[in-house]
Amino acid sequence: MKSMFVRLVGKSYRALTPLIFLSDSEPAHDFVLDMSEVMGKIPGMPSLMRACLRVSHPSLKTTVAGIEFENPIGLAAGFDHEAQMPRIVDGIGFGFQSVGTVTNGAYGGNPYPRIKRLVRSRTMLVYKGFKSTGMTAVLKRLKGQHWRVPVGISIGRTNPLREYTYPVAIGDIVEAFTKARDSGVPFSYFELNISCPNMLREISFYEPARLSELLTVVCALKIQKPLFIKMPIGLGDDGVKVLLDTILKFPVAAVIFGNLQIDRTDPAFIPEELATLAQYPGNWSGVPCQKRSDHLVKLAYNHAKGKLAIIGCGGIFSVEDAYRKIRNGASLVQLVSATVWEGPQVPAELCADLPALLARDGFKHVSEAVGVDAAKE
Ligand SMILES: Cc1cc2nc3c(=O)[nH]c(=O)nc-3n(C[C@H](O)[C@H](O)[C@H](O)COP(=O)(O)O)c2cc1C
Repeated sequence: MKSMFVRLVGKSYRALTPLIFLSDSEPAHDFVLDMSEVMGKIPGMPSLMRACLRVSHPSLKTTVAGIEFENPIGLAAGFDHEAQMPRIVDGIGFGFQSVGTVTNGAYGGNPYPRIKRLVRSRTMLVYKGFKSTGMTAVLKRLKGQHWRVPVGISIGRTNPLREYTYPVAIGDIVEAFTKARDSGVPFSYFELNISCPNMLREISFYEPARLSELLTVVCALKIQKPLFIKMPIGLGDDGVKVLLDTILKFPVAAVIFGNLQIDRTDPAFIPEELATLAQYPGNWSGVPCQKRSDHLVKLAYNHAKGKLAIIGCGGIFSVEDAYRKIRNGASLVQLVSATVWEGPQVPAELCADLPALLARDGFKHVSEAVGVDAAKE
């Protein structure tokens, strides 16, 4: 019954996408966030949403990094950059959410346009560059809140920095972590974002010595919660393995593959559509991330040999996309773009459909499917 309602919402949303796609992306996104915050504050609304839209199944419950997840489908960082949604995120069916990326200092964002859709290629050009009201303001909003699903905070360095040196950048990140750690806000995990490709000037932690320097001070903060790292998909395989080797020396619980696609030659783009945005800076979500993130999930699973959990993110639009990442090695998955193309009920649809795929392949539980295709090339 509930699944039928979820499918009806999905059908209606998809029927309306020609109209929805007439809207300008960033104001539409901001409107959804503001509405979500309002709905979260209306007494009874989160419970009503949960009753209508949340689909649960025993085979989807899983424990990763010591955290219990009712289902493995998460809302990735970037959608809710100001943390307006945690009160309702479980109501639309997600199993967890990363808020942010939040930075220590405030920044109004890179020059417009900052989000543009390529409707047929199912991708957004993103150039926000860590638009943030800053850690203090975000923590103030979240103070006193409690959530029904795990919520983590994604933290990155302020863009722009007052000075472009590594000590300043690392100090800035440490200050943000410290504020979040000491806030009393019940985050379940911390996500260190080292992979935003939209920064005004480069301070890169892709060099093992630099990443070691950063992780040494972040881990010394004793945040008492699992640390996840949001990884790039634009590095070559050898570069990724070097980063993983560095990460494996620290108490990091999980890596997320990955962030936006920087490669404009990815075959997933429809060339004539891509040409319409050729003049704009930024990087890409959605389908152009899919192949590379699928591959890197597998690579990381094989390389880490169980010492890190892998979270798959990039181009998940259907249950088959989510299941493929799980079979490649992802214990959890995250998404953003599918909420735009498929609708807000997409996590509920995935949760309604995933148990049947697990059962078809003889798995009683989602954890049994993790990595079963990792050895296959
Ligand atoms: C509008 C937008 C803003 C984003 N901002 C962030 C961010 O602040 N931090 C981050 O780690 N990832 C950010 N991302 C990347 C997403 O978390 C995700 O890695 C990427 O979009 C691929 O997933 P998808 O194909 O499901 O969209 C952003 C993505 C979009 C579309």
